Amino acid sequence: MGQPVGHVQEEDGLTPDYVEEGRLLFAGVCEFFWASSAASNLPPESVPEFAFAGRSNVGKSSLLNALTGRKALARTSHTPGRTQQLNFFAIAGMPGSEKLRIVDMPGYGYAAVSKEKISSWTKLMHAYLRGRSTLSRVYVLVDGRHGLKESDHEMMTLLDRSAQSYQVILTKKDEVKLRDIEGMVAKTLAGLQKHPAAFPELIFTSSETGEGIPELRAAIARRVYGAA
Ligand code: GTP
Ligand code: MG
Repeated sequence: MGQPVGHVQEEDGLTPDYVEEGRLLFAGVCEFFWASSAASNLPPESVPEFAFAGRSNVGKSSLLNALTGRKALARTSHTPGRTQQLNFFAIAGMPGSEKLRIVDMPGYGYAAVSKEKISSWTKLMHAYLRGRSTLSRVYVLVDGRHGLKESDHEMMTLLDRSAQSYQVILTKKDEVKLRDIEGMVAKTLAGLQKHPAAFPELIFTSSETGEGIPELRAAIARRVYGAA
């Protein structure tokens, strides 16, 4: 494992410069601008997009709020299945023209939703993930208390087949006991070995404490401004 997770790692290009660029990017205007409930009404392709996928209730909407420093940009909920569309947010940074987009995706793996709904979201997600040339990276969020589940492997297999670049983010670090953190990271990295397109490093975040958020902003800034 080597490096501690959640620290700025210079050899990965997450230099202090990118941390500052990332901070500035998300300090400017962030606004919701488009919701898609069908593949036929996706917004026209433009700036790089960063999509957040993961099981229902894993903390996708909360992470978007933490990333943008807005309390209620994306709707969060105690009820799984709250986000039912692809929600697009334009991030303008400073001084103001659109630099990137963040996409909040419906959660998967939630049984108490009708079969028709699941099948229509699944179709939408597949169409988006397969066909989007401006999609820069997919972040697959995994609950840091529970680790990878079968439905995460299914999502990552889809991403492998779509040849999309993706990275796993472990969430809710504030809920994980200190002594369990290293084990969860090691177990998750081992699980990623089956997935050729997965980035072989993790980011561990907490939307409650803000841990890992500067690193995530820096990773996004690096893809927007510089190296791949
Ligand atoms: P769906 O839209 O249903 O797929 O859920 P989601 O992945 O967007 O989850 P959401 O952000 O709505 O959060 C689900 C629940 O987890 C809420 O009760 C949040 O307050 C809680 N939560 C999210 N992130 C964190 C975190 O970092 N720490 C803690 N302690 N709770 C969190
Ligand atoms: Mg949500």
